[in-house]
Amino acid sequence: MSLSAVPTLKAQLLTVESVIRANSIAIGFLKNEEGNFSFPSNSALIAKVESYFGLNLVDELAFFSATGKTGEIFEIPISAESAKCDRIILVGVGSNSLSDIRLAGASLGRKFRGKESSLFTLVANSGAEILAHAVSLILGNYQWTKKTTGVKLKAPEFYLSSSHSASIERAQIIARAVSRARDLIHTPANIKTPAWMALQAKSFARNSDLVVTVLSGKELSEFGGLQAVGNSSPNPGPRFIQISYAPRGSKNWPHVVLVGKGITFDTGGISLKRPYDTMIGMKSDMSGAAAILSVVSAMPSVAPKVRVTALLMCAENALSATAQRPSDVITHYGGTTVEVINTDAEGRLVLADGLAFADLNLDPDYLVDVATLTGAATLGLGRQYGAMYTRNNALAKKLHSLGEISGDRVWHMPLIDDYAIALESFVADYNHTADKPKFSAGSVTAALFLEKFTGERNWVHLDIAGPARSETDSGENPKGGTGFGVRLLIDWISSIK
Ligand code: BES
Ligand code: MN
Ligand code: ZN
Repeated sequence: MSLSAVPTLKAQLLTVESVIRANSIAIGFLKNEEGNFSFPSNSALIAKVESYFGLNLVDELAFFSATGKTGEIFEIPISAESAKCDRIILVGVGSNSLSDIRLAGASLGRKFRGKESSLFTLVANSGAEILAHAVSLILGNYQWTKKTTGVKLKAPEFYLSSSHSASIERAQIIARAVSRARDLIHTPANIKTPAWMALQAKSFARNSDLVVTVLSGKELSEFGGLQAVGNSSPNPGPRFIQISYAPRGSKNWPHVVLVGKGITFDTGGISLKRPYDTMIGMKSDMSGAAAILSVVSAMPSVAPKVRVTALLMCAENALSATAQRPSDVITHYGGTTVEVINTDAEGRLVLADGLAFADLNLDPDYLVDVATLTGAATLGLGRQYGAMYTRNNALAKKLHSLGEISGDRVWHMPLIDDYAIALESFVADYNHTADKPKFSAGSVTAALFLEKFTGERNWVHLDIAGPARSETDSGENPKGGTGFGVRLLIDWISSIK
């Protein structure tokens, strides 16, 4: 696990004396169209650092034939008797956009993986830049491993300008939350049972304002979807995990309810996944639950004037003699009946119970579900954007723009009413998947299905099947779970008045 090794961010003075106390100094550089180099952040201080060490950094960059590409790194050994610092790291910042500054942070963070060392970074200027840069220093540094030899899970310290200490503090909170989600996602399914998820939720909530309630066994009798999916796994069964942030005096605050798909492993069930290797990544099918658990767990530190309830719909979609069958009819929380078509579309079955529970019991002002729901979302948008469905265009606009800033980017997709016929069943209220021949738009029809359980609520569905997992160790992401959605939801909740 990594959480013990999350890097620390520290606010330090922007003076030569303070900067040279770090083991290394990172300096962001820019190359313009004429091929000239410059240092867009802290240039006066950088000039002083150059003269302190007797260096000309522009000459160094020319020597290296630097391109200025975002995240490009060059190291220069330095020494001075009075300085602890023994290297300068030049990092390219592309066109110095917020996203460049973020990715430069990830590149530096990756370089310091497992290192117990300190780095002063002179890459970002404004509060927003410091926030983006600092979060990604930690995200790039992330590693998760169960290797018993050859790995160091030491954590570096990153120093940033003390004139933005509030941004630095916030970055630490956000990056910790993302790391926590990543830890949960990386944990393999032989460890990560639904009961284990409940234990995690309880341990995160210890010594805080958070209240955790777990339902299991007979207590789930009304949760037809969660039972149908989760009872395929012999032991231990499905869990409904509710975590609430509602500190004293919060009664009249707006209420956000988050519902997360928490499938700890998705074999597909009787409609077994084929080819079989498409199953390998399916320990990450609880990424929605991981994200919202991490978000609600961060609320006591973020302290928004918003009540937040997270509902984790946890089950394993196993193949066994007690697995549900295609053609079964189940009764969801609230009484809606659904004909099961393909047992591999299990996510919407567990979410339907959660959404209906929220609508009927929790009176949410906003109802948001987060789920690795469909391969179709990945086909449509790739791995850089989450698919966002909502009828509230203003809210969609807001989430979109917050995502562009934080890096958890979402794209507003249409809820196409003409496709609703795909969900008509001969025997139940609805079909659970679009089984008509050649009916396409799997992510849209899944969203239309979920909408049936949201009453008149202000609802947003985030299909994160694409961005929840990274196939490569690159940018801010390790290979594996990304923690997508954590930054977006924390930023959005913090912005609610
Ligand atoms: N967990 C999968 C979706 C998924 C696929 C997530 C790839 C991440 C990567 C989901 O439960 C699923 O199997 N969806 C099916 C739905 C279909 C049977 C209607 C899909 O997308 O193929
Ligand atoms: Mn599935
Ligand atoms: Zn699934």
